[in-house]
Amino acid sequence: MTKSVPIITVDGPGGAGKGAVCKQIAETLSWHLLDSGMLYRLLALSAINHHVALDNEAAIEVMASALDVQFASAAGQKGIRAFLEGDDVTAELRSEDVGMAASKVAVIASARLALLARQRAFAELPGLVADGRDMGTVVFKHAPLKIYLTASVAERAKRRYKQLLENGQSGNLARLTEAIGARDRADMGRSVSPLCPAEDALIVDSTALSIDQVCETIISEAKSRLLI
Ligand code: C5P
Repeated sequence: MTKSVPIITVDGPGGAGKGAVCKQIAETLSWHLLDSGMLYRLLALSAINHHVALDNEAAIEVMASALDVQFASAAGQKGIRAFLEGDDVTAELRSEDVGMAASKVAVIASARLALLARQRAFAELPGLVADGRDMGTVVFKHAPLKIYLTASVAERAKRRYKQLLENGQSGNLARLTEAIGARDRADMGRSVSPLCPAEDALIVDSTALSIDQVCETIISEAKSRLLI
């Protein structure tokens, strides 16, 4: 009998800490990590680079099926590096503009479908931590542990601002707060795979919690469900 792959899904709005939490849990458990937002960002960047309108559904679907991407995690480096058509685009992907563009291509149902198999292929033993917006509701519907990680808009804007400065980019807190609110509305209000907690998700509010505290909560939940 093939052993089923244990999966922890972590969904939630931008800036709630999903990226850092998922990375830390994957490292602690030595599990695989899927950053599905990165795929949507890569798709958006590819559209921008090829001068394809972000609402051109047919062209975006073709791009999603043929997306030439590679991921690499180099020892001692922060996070995963992403390559689009051979170029390292990791830094470019993190900008708020690319995030907003990703949110636009993410409303295209056929493009989401085209990215489904690519995302599911990350589910490999010994386990997977999947970070996104629809991991628990669509992509890994049968995951045994689903988390919905959220935080207040003000706190998320502050975190993004700090992140941008740390990455050597500039930021404006008021504009970031506005952008985060706009992306929440776009992600929660769309008709395909809207951002919402799965019915069986555990809701974790990270506004007043550290990354370590969120990770401890999730890992102790995984233990109590005999996942690890
Ligand atoms: O998480 P991140 O900010 O990188 O995601 C960028 C955008 O990609 C989100 O605002 C959302 O619109 C889209 N996305 C999605 N489904 C996912 C992951 C990201 O629609 N599973």
